[in-house]
Amino acid sequence: KKLIIINGPNLNLLGKREPNIYGSLTFTEFLEEVKSKYPDIHIDYFQSNIEGELIDKLHEVGFSYDGIILNAAAYTHTSVGIGDAIKGIETPVVEVHISNTFGREEFRHQSYISPNAKGVILGFGLQSYELAIQSF
Ligand code: DQA
Repeated sequence: KKLIIINGPNLNLLGKREPNIYGSLTFTEFLEEVKSKYPDIHIDYFQSNIEGELIDKLHEVGFSYDGIILNAAAYTHTSVGIGDAIKGIETPVVEVHISNTFGREEFRHQSYISPNAKGVILGFGLQSYELAIQSF
């Protein structure tokens, strides 16, 4: 199986950024662990702080990969463009969040990703990504 994890804005700061919410592990450390745990699954990784780059990546992988695990971070709550990109591609997208966005500010309750996603996993810390991998 060929999967890709796509992380949106500020997730390059994982480990340093609001560790009380997002934990103190860097994503690189986490990814190494998860890759060694699932050696039979091919897992690519892409992170960008730029909305258009996230859309370009969805287009690039969206007709050949078996699954996309997407944490669009803040763009989740604002990006009609990313929502439309998911509608336009063939590969199923599982939406992931580290925190339970429904327990946080009202503006995080809205998602342009969810209506177009195969499923949504949130609130389990970095384990949310692992659960998404297991869903494919
Ligand atoms: C997040 C939740 C978003 O509301 C926030 O903007 C993020 C991270 C999460 O993984 O919990 O940057 O997507």
